[in-house]
Amino acid sequence: MNRISLPVDLGKKEWLLSLMVGISLIAIALLIGLASGEWTAAGSITFGAGVFWLTLLTLFVFRRLQSEIRAEANHIEATIAVTSILKPRRPLPPFGGAALEADTVRELVALLFQTRPGLIVECGSGLSTLITAYVLEQLGQGHIVSLEQGEGWHHVTKGYLDQHGLASYADVVYAPLKRLDGPVLGQFQWYDPTCLAQYHDIDLLIVDGPTAWADPEARYPAVPFLWEKLSNHAVIFVDDTKRQGESRIVERWLAQYPGQLRVETRETSKGLALLRVSK
Ligand SMILES: C[S@@+](CC[C@H](N)C(=O)[O-])C[C@H]1O[C@@H](n2cnc3c(N)ncnc32)[C@H](O)[C@@H]1O
Repeated sequence: MNRISLPVDLGKKEWLLSLMVGISLIAIALLIGLASGEWTAAGSITFGAGVFWLTLLTLFVFRRLQSEIRAEANHIEATIAVTSILKPRRPLPPFGGAALEADTVRELVALLFQTRPGLIVECGSGLSTLITAYVLEQLGQGHIVSLEQGEGWHHVTKGYLDQHGLASYADVVYAPLKRLDGPVLGQFQWYDPTCLAQYHDIDLLIVDGPTAWADPEARYPAVPFLWEKLSNHAVIFVDDTKRQGESRIVERWLAQYPGQLRVETRETSKGLALLRVSK
């Protein structure tokens, strides 16, 4: 952990500064006492303020640690639930970081068993592709086409599928980012559109790419670009909706397709939205 996180999410420097404020107040109180030779009202107030400040900081740290421990326990529970269902033949790649968090993987697995999709298109490959392929193998139906902007990362995901014997359930397509056409979509760099020309009737669209650090709304084109290719009752799985960019994207889609999209949210660590299409 390179940041000591408080509810107000202080950086390490701010945290140290807050600690110094508390210690300094107590030190000043002691100096006042030493200088005057007695315990004055000013000294008592300064001492009290220092102790109060340090107690408050301790409480903040304690509350933060409590919620982090709860989140970790939830991830462990989710990992156990997922692995006991999938029974992976090799160790799974790490959950979290750029990959889906364990609690989101649990939601994905539940959704796949519930909806039994035929064609799945995914934006952003990795652990999610492998997990989906495991479920498709158990369902005995369905196929995932995963668009990947990174040539190197596309080989990594293909490697996962090969190692787990699941290559026949998934195509990982290297789709470098390109500027799209059109007045609105033309503002975006998105997956090379030619890669999806042959696909129709997408039952599940997983939106977890492209990378969004340069443009927080980089994932916006997924729905308008693929709308005609979505089946009449498709589901759109959107990760990271606790981020401003993704939550704004969902709002834009809802405004753009009134009455044709119904949103359900799931309380995961990074935020998850499921959009049910009704054409
Ligand atoms: C949010 S990630 C996609 C994660 C993917 N859905 C998964 O569950 O692993 C978006 C992009 O980040 C890039 N990436 C870089 N390092 C990665 C990593 N360790 N895991 C997954 N994606 C990574 C890939 O180009 C990927 O398409």
